[in-house]
Amino acid sequence: MRTVLRDGRVIDPASGFDGVADVVIEGGRITHVGPGAAALAAGAERDTRVIDCRGRWVVPGFVDVHTHLREPGLEYKEDIASGTRAAAAGGFTTVCAMPNTRPVNDNRAITEMMVAKARSHGVVRVHPIGAITRGQQGRELTEMADLRDAGCVAVSDDGRCVTDAAVMRRALEYAHTFGLPVVQHAEDHTLTAGAQMHEGAIATRLGLKGWPRVAEDHIVARDLMLAAATGAHYHLAHASTQGSAALLREAKARGIRVTAEVTPHHLTLTDEAVLGYRTVCKVNPPLRERGDVDALIDALADGTLDCIATDHAPHAAIEKDCEFSEAAHGMVGLETCVALLLDLVRSGRVKASRLVDALTAAPARAFGFDAGALRVGALADVTVIDPELHWTIDPSRFRSKSRNTPWEGVRVQGAVVRTFVAGDEVFTHERASDA
Ligand code: DOR
Repeated sequence: MRTVLRDGRVIDPASGFDGVADVVIEGGRITHVGPGAAALAAGAERDTRVIDCRGRWVVPGFVDVHTHLREPGLEYKEDIASGTRAAAAGGFTTVCAMPNTRPVNDNRAITEMMVAKARSHGVVRVHPIGAITRGQQGRELTEMADLRDAGCVAVSDDGRCVTDAAVMRRALEYAHTFGLPVVQHAEDHTLTAGAQMHEGAIATRLGLKGWPRVAEDHIVARDLMLAAATGAHYHLAHASTQGSAALLREAKARGIRVTAEVTPHHLTLTDEAVLGYRTVCKVNPPLRERGDVDALIDALADGTLDCIATDHAPHAAIEKDCEFSEAAHGMVGLETCVALLLDLVRSGRVKASRLVDALTAAPARAFGFDAGALRVGALADVTVIDPELHWTIDPSRFRSKSRNTPWEGVRVQGAVVRTFVAGDEVFTHERASDA
């Protein structure tokens, strides 16, 4: 069986291709990319499915290096089956599962269980991320060789920062031996004790304790020095401040081995979204101010921020329908990601090819996956986007088990219409065949 994605705008940042072309999939692999490929299929019509992609973007399947799938232990929020269905609906064909599960993914047995579950119940590829420290307690390092051998692609204490400099130094040295990136949640907890949102005028107005930028910035500054000293690969999770962007830019210019991600919400919302004590906008790190958002967009545009990562953080209704101080941090992100970010392309602030790069080749490169490219011979992980489709975000229709999004009822333009993993169509939008 052959599938021809015909006459779409093929954007493949890994090869630099951006133009109208066909993509041919056969035996789960990409067999041809280029103009006129459909003609190759002529004569074999019976075995060939031709999908008209005029006006659509045909891009590599998205790679999310920061997803909370919540399994094991927190399946009331999400599990591997529901989380990967949400990923497919968002155009993601590879997701990395964060280790702040119950129990924490800090040993080989948990990683193996996640890998097995992903194989049997997942609809997209799942790569676990193991903890840096046992129980994410910030003290004893995990057995990183075991974690890697079981399938972990990086280590992180996400949700918690590795605050102790000696532990962080050893973690970088140790992970470096095994070729694993160290993913830091940069937050000095001594500066954020009791904090509820970004420290600024809105926090004062709401009477909520603030989380200052410097709590992120000084950890990033320290970590970049440790990365330089150890030669290890440091990856900054969910950058949220203009200071982080400036520090990363400088570190990259100096040749320090660092990569970084930014979330859709930190690129699109400010702390004003919290007004009204909207717990759906309570997130860690917090939504910042316009100057931060602008600096993050610029840093995404120039590649200082390598990747877009969703930090998809599902929570049950009861964990959000409560007092602000009691509410859990985080918002779901997989199913709304591309629709929210296409605005940056339409406004001219980020080029289409850079946006696609940040969702595909760049995260794949950062974490060392053979993914994120439309290469002949590669597994056919492919996403088709309709950049014109207007729709209203309706959380009741999410594949995710959780509904904690601040964009309920918001009208957006652009949607994922088809997602293929190794040539299998794992998601089809109900309006996929609309011309
Ligand atoms: O908002 C967040 N939620 N930030 C994190 O770092 C963790 C995440 C979660 O696990 O819910």
